[in-house]
Amino acid sequence: MTWTVAGRTALVTGASTGIGAAIARDLAAAGCTVGICARRADLLADVLADCPGGRSWVVDLADLDGVSAFAHTASDELGGIDILVNNAGMPKRRHANALSVDEVDRVMALNYLSPVRLILALLPEMLARGDGRIVNISSVAARFGPPREGAYAASKAAISAFSESLAVDISGSGVTVHVVNPGIIDTELFQLPDNEPSLGDLPPERASDLAAAIRTQIEEGGFELWFPGWMKDVAVGKATDIDGFLAGSAEYTAERVRTLGLTDPLRP
Ligand SMILES: NC(=O)c1ccc[n+]([C@@H]2O[C@H](COP(=O)([O-])OP(=O)(O)OC[C@H]3O[C@@H](n4cnc5c(N)ncnc54)[C@H](OP(=O)(O)O)[C@@H]3O)[C@@H](O)[C@H]2O)c1
Repeated sequence: MTWTVAGRTALVTGASTGIGAAIARDLAAAGCTVGICARRADLLADVLADCPGGRSWVVDLADLDGVSAFAHTASDELGGIDILVNNAGMPKRRHANALSVDEVDRVMALNYLSPVRLILALLPEMLARGDGRIVNISSVAARFGPPREGAYAASKAAISAFSESLAVDISGSGVTVHVVNPGIIDTELFQLPDNEPSLGDLPPERASDLAAAIRTQIEEGGFELWFPGWMKDVAVGKATDIDGFLAGSAEYTAERVRTLGLTDPLRP
């Protein structure tokens, strides 16, 4: 029987804008009671207005010491959490030769360590109920070795790898874990300061379309969602010829750097 989101509770992190806001609105429209969190209260209030009966919390998930306690607060106030959507995240577009260790640590804290803390805090209550859905918003970056995104790609690869092991550990428990690999989605992630320009040249997809696909994934199952779906073929191609893939990627990057008039730190 299909698992439906109607009548369930969900916690969506990073729901003040972008993909998280779209997921929160989509789940709410489908009859889910949605709790949302992020750092910007004014934007959360706009999203909450579209989530009847929902709740919001202003929280900095990069502050790891507070994450587990926040998970318990959210669960208590929502009356338990059926669906955890780990969506909050930050980009880091920076050439490896210009990357600082602090940047690597910050990206790993928000994109990997924080969602794992939320999972570890909420998993026992899901397992006790024998029911629950954990959705981790990863990225195609986890698989594609994207240029100038080593810190970001590694943080996403970490949450994807954790999810794969978790899926095996909780198999048969009634709780399932899902990974989402978005490609390029039209959000403010590409305008955030302290990042190099994006090297991508694909037309962006809409966050609302991705949110609808994620709801289908939650309801119908399936460990991994690629969005758009053809990107899975790129991952398969890479797995069959990693040297060819990396050489092609370096060639493409050099071309994009020239086209966009960017500097190459190795050839100033
Ligand atoms: N857009 C894409 O093409 C794309 C592709 C692949 C994967 N993704 C992933 O999708 C997720 C959502 O990204 P997006 O594109 O929707 O970007 P976005 O518009 O920048 O949204 C990021 C969300 O995370 C929240 N957030 C950031 N830092 C936070 C912190 N320290 N504590 C709590 N919340 C925080 C932001 O809210 P506040 O600033 O209000 O805190 C915002 O709600 C991310 O995990 C991203 O890596 C995006």
